[in-house]
Amino acid sequence: MSPRHLVSIQDLSVQELESLVEQATNFKAQYKSNENAQENHNKLLGKVIALLFSKRSTRTRISTEGAAAFFGAHAMFLGKDDIQLGVNESLYDTTRVISSMTSCIFARVNKHQEILDLCKDSSVPIINSLCDRYHPLQAITDILSIKESFNGNIKGLKLAWIGDANNVINDLSIAALKSGMNVSIAIPGSISFDSLIADKANQIAKELNVSFEIVNEPAKALNGANVIVTDTWISMGEEAEKQNKLKQFNDFQITKDLISRGNVNSDWRFMHCLPRHQEEVDDEIFYSDNSIVFEEAENRLYAAMAVIDEFVVGNKTVSK
Ligand code: CP
Ligand code: NVA
Repeated sequence: MSPRHLVSIQDLSVQELESLVEQATNFKAQYKSNENAQENHNKLLGKVIALLFSKRSTRTRISTEGAAAFFGAHAMFLGKDDIQLGVNESLYDTTRVISSMTSCIFARVNKHQEILDLCKDSSVPIINSLCDRYHPLQAITDILSIKESFNGNIKGLKLAWIGDANNVINDLSIAALKSGMNVSIAIPGSISFDSLIADKANQIAKELNVSFEIVNEPAKALNGANVIVTDTWISMGEEAEKQNKLKQFNDFQITKDLISRGNVNSDWRFMHCLPRHQEEVDDEIFYSDNSIVFEEAENRLYAAMAVIDEFVVGNKTVSK
């Protein structure tokens, strides 16, 4: 038997995703009112949650460490220069050692395969905290943020993504569809969307009677949208490709002009997982009243609480 890991949103059923979002809402209320503080603190008192991070992080690190503190656990940050991994020690040996002394590993890695390797060899749950393909903690947060902002009613709303095609949108598209939203994705013609995720998205859209499309014109994706989302065009590790990517994303900057050309719904929100740069969205939109980016960032804390409660406190096993 193996512990249950969180690799991507695809691991969660519609009900499980809904329940994690609901739990995040409950933890937010409890955290703000200090209700059940002692009971929550006792859940992982004396335990260790490892953060095995080979890339930078602001939100994921703070939210995970904050959520660990909420449950009484010690968060142990293991950055790429802190431990022997990669220089003196293999991922296999490192995984065996870390998992023998902790209750869970939140892992931020480069390649998705590293998450799969961790899952294979770890005796404790692995929570994917960003790899090149997925970012489930962000997707759970984003559904929570959309629900909050639209008073809980998100079925039938349209999410428009204007940006790159990698980790954040791969998980967000599946999460939004599973939550009953229609999803339209605009990516440059020179960039391809992962075909396995597109297949999965089309299958979910059919089952749940919602729509999923990939287009190359931002204004087309924006038509009738309630929620506009983007991410950096230069993901961590892609710094050398910056000039090329900036060229590819010409005309993709989210501005007031693009939003009016795109004929978005009058009741729209702007979201961004952060960190953000001017090139993908200008200040006028990023700091506008329609922008919920800072509420979204704060919600990372409550999503991390829900995930820890489900995967670590409620540690379930699955057949290998
Ligand atoms: N959104 C997000 O994952 O931010 P960090 O890279 O700062 O953790
Ligand atoms: N796509 C971005 C997300 C950062 C949270 C990256 O991979 O760097």
